[in-house]
Amino acid sequence: MKFTSKTAIITGAASGIGRATTHALIERDIGVVAAVDRNEIIRGLAKETNDKVGREIAIPFVGDVTCDNFRKEVFAEIKERFGAVHICIPAAGITRDALAVRRNKDTGEVETYSREQLEEVFKINLVAPILWAMDSVASLAEYRFSRGKKRWTPEEGMQGAIVFIGSVSSAGNKGQISYAAAKAGLEGAQATLSKEAIFYGVRCSIIHPGFTDTPMVRSLGDDYIEKNILPFTQLRRLLRPDEVADAICFMLTNSAVSGSVWVDAGWHPAAG
Ligand SMILES: NC(=O)c1ccc[n+]([C@@H]2O[C@H](COP(=O)([O-])OP(=O)(O)OC[C@H]3O[C@@H](n4cnc5c(N)ncnc54)[C@H](O)[C@@H]3O)[C@@H](O)[C@H]2O)c1
Repeated sequence: MKFTSKTAIITGAASGIGRATTHALIERDIGVVAAVDRNEIIRGLAKETNDKVGREIAIPFVGDVTCDNFRKEVFAEIKERFGAVHICIPAAGITRDALAVRRNKDTGEVETYSREQLEEVFKINLVAPILWAMDSVASLAEYRFSRGKKRWTPEEGMQGAIVFIGSVSSAGNKGQISYAAAKAGLEGAQATLSKEAIFYGVRCSIIHPGFTDTPMVRSLGDDYIEKNILPFTQLRRLLRPDEVADAICFMLTNSAVSGSVWVDAGWHPAAG
């Protein structure tokens, strides 16, 4: 699939993997990228990019990806200005790490991971990516039906692609009960949407990055990274966001990719 004249949506575009992927698509001459993030800095980043490229290639949208009205507004504006959405990379995500069951040192009581945090992580990392991905496929489906097109045929060439952002933690990682469950949940979503979206010529896959040098991972602290991450990777360093972005671009362009791609530098965590 070629990027030229395609419209993409990337959430979490202000930082880390989402930001690197936005740059990667722009370098590869994408038509337009809707760069979505709740962080206001996305406006300045988009302006900088547009000034550099010399055209309006990055359109910033500031809001919370879990908000239905915000999502609808983004899709409505894109439809009005550019037509169908071809590519969706719902990368916005958070971590709320804590042991699933632990003893409170102060009270001596045994506590479990909070329901509030479980739901917050599921809302942002699982429910929102599914909703943004479904709306992208729906946008292309609507576009096709409005032109009298029904089931996609191979002669048309690929129409679009979704890449969910999973994680090595989807296979289980101590202290990440909410995050791991959300990322594993995306696998089920990918496997299902992949079977449905191909009706419209849209492929759907999921990337599982290893620990990547972004603010999300840096917030763990250098000491933690040194002791608990680097020894368990073959490269003995964090991945660079542009390496993950490059893999995402490969998944978007190579039509044979339909399932999971692990980009994890040989991540092999301790058993317990
Ligand atoms: N960094 C890693 O090691 C790693 C590994 C595997 C998977 N991932 C996944 O990659 C994705 C990007 O992570 P990152 O490391 O680049 O993180 P990051 O913290 O650098 O960037 C995340 C971005 O998402 C935005 N965001 C978060 N919640 C939002 C919300 N509710 N609405 C709108 N925007 C929101 C933030 O403002 C931020 O700009 C996440 O889904 C993460 O789970 C990261």
